[in-house]
Amino acid sequence: IEQKTTLKPKVAIVLGSGLNSLADELQKPCVIAYKELPHFVVSTAPGHQGNLIFGYLDDVPVLCMQGRLHVYEGYSLETITYPIRVMAALGIEKLILSNAAGGIDIDFAVGDLMIISDHINFMGRNPLIGANETEFGPRFNDMTFAYDRELRGLAHQTAEELGIKLQEGVYLACTGPSYETPAEIRMFRSWGANAVGMSTVPEVIVAAHCGLKVLAISCISNMAAGILDQPLTEEEVLA
Ligand code: HPA
Repeated sequence: IEQKTTLKPKVAIVLGSGLNSLADELQKPCVIAYKELPHFVVSTAPGHQGNLIFGYLDDVPVLCMQGRLHVYEGYSLETITYPIRVMAALGIEKLILSNAAGGIDIDFAVGDLMIISDHINFMGRNPLIGANETEFGPRFNDMTFAYDRELRGLAHQTAEELGIKLQEGVYLACTGPSYETPAEIRMFRSWGANAVGMSTVPEVIVAAHCGLKVLAISCISNMAAGILDQPLTEEEVLA
C-alpha cells in the first residue's frame, strides 16, 4: 500500500450500506482494489464496492474503505477485521464507521442519524478469539471507552452547528443475513438496544484492541422488524 501512495492519513472511514458515494468526493484519489491486496477478500454485499481509497476530504488526508465485509458473506470475523489492523499498521489513529441500521427505539424515525455510544455483540463470536497478537494489543482489552467520548462530543457539537438532528444510542449486532424477527426486536429493546445491524461491532472490537479512537454512526434506514406492519426490504435499506 505504501508503494502506491505517499499519503499518510490519520483518519480512516468505513462506508456502510448505501453510503459509498462519499468516496467519490475524495480529492486526488488513489484507488487500490481489495483484490490487489494480499489477504483482503472482496466484498459481495449489495451496494458495496471493494476499494481502499486514499484522498483528501476538505484538505484532510483520509483513507476510505469503500465497501465493507460482513459475517453473512461467509467470512470469518478475523477476515473481515483484517483491514482494521492494516489501517493501524499504516498509522491510522481515528476510525469513523458508518452503517445502515434498523431503528429499535420507537422515538427514532427513518433517516435519523445515531451516534453509537455503546454496543451489544449478539454475533455469538469475538474477532479476538485465538492467539493474542501482542504487537497490536492486550489479551483482555477494555471496551468501556471503545466509542470515544471526545469524538462523540465533537460530532454532536458539529451537528448542532450544521442543524443536523442526531440521536445517540446502543447498537446491537446480529450476523444476518436474515433480518430479525419481531420477537427478537422486542427482546433487544428490553436489553437497551436502540438500533440493530449486521456490521461494525467486529471492527470496533479490533479497533479498540489496537488503540484506535472510534466514532461510529448509524443511519436509521428502516424501523426494525415488527414496529411497522410491513416487511423489511433490502431496497428500503439502500434507499
Ligand atoms: N436489521 C439488521 N440490519 C439492518 C437493518 C435491520 O433492520 N437495517 C439495515 N441493516
